[in-house]
Amino acid sequence: MLECTRAVQRDIPGIGKLFLESFADSVIHTCGKIPHFAAIEDLFNCVYTAEPEGAFVVRDAGGQIVGYVFAPARISYIWRHAVLGGHLCRWLWRWLKGDYGFGLHPVKIMFFNKMEFFRSAFTPHKAAEARILSIAVSPTVRGQGLGTKLMQCALAYFREQKAPLIRLEVRPDNVPAKRIYEKLGFIAAGLTKDSQGDWLIMLKEMER
Ligand SMILES: CC(C)(COP(=O)(O)OP(=O)(O)OC[C@H]1O[C@@H](n2cnc3c(N)ncnc32)[C@H](O)[C@@H]1OP(=O)(O)O)[C@@H](O)C(=O)NCCC(=O)NCCS
Repeated sequence: MLECTRAVQRDIPGIGKLFLESFADSVIHTCGKIPHFAAIEDLFNCVYTAEPEGAFVVRDAGGQIVGYVFAPARISYIWRHAVLGGHLCRWLWRWLKGDYGFGLHPVKIMFFNKMEFFRSAFTPHKAAEARILSIAVSPTVRGQGLGTKLMQCALAYFREQKAPLIRLEVRPDNVPAKRIYEKLGFIAAGLTKDSQGDWLIMLKEMER
């Protein structure tokens, strides 16, 4: 039986690999191709080090990462950490050096997508510090309850942190993900969008 445990920093490459495998279409839509792995690693390093307690993984018997969830209880801290922790400068420097393997156009797409997310994230009644930022399970072990298990770990963490409201975004046609969220008490709360289309906003009020 595979279990969900807290991620450690050396899990980042495995998480990055699974992210690329699970979200290749979105990555290619944004970057025009799969970027150099350094781009993904630097991004997840920033998110992980901002709030390591909010990252969970499932490993298979051989120790490979087959599932992860990033569930920060304080999303605003990630942005502060990106700026004050020097990650933003590092990203800029490495991007300018060509370490990430993509040009200006993807950066513009990411910028406008983030602006739209910010606008939506601060809408009254939909703003939540606690977020499900990213979740994925390896295609080889999907449909065995691991996605649900990862979400339950995230919710237990949010309960510990006394987060009152949890927010996530999901593509409206992502049936398996929506099934998990609805099962765990998330309720549809409107739409936002990015360059690729609509996102369904889902919220869950935590019991006090
Ligand atoms: C979403 C994802 C994490 C789910 O992981 P998983 O381990 O397969 O999830 P679970 O096995 O816990 O549950 C999946 C649920 O969806 C249901 N499901 C799966 N495919 C389905 C389909 N085509 N139609 C209807 N229901 C479906 C399953 O029956 C299950 O529901 P149940 O527990 O009521 O039986 C996984 O599919 C994934 O990594 N997808 C790519 C990344 C992604 O989309 N992440 C979410 C971004 S918001």
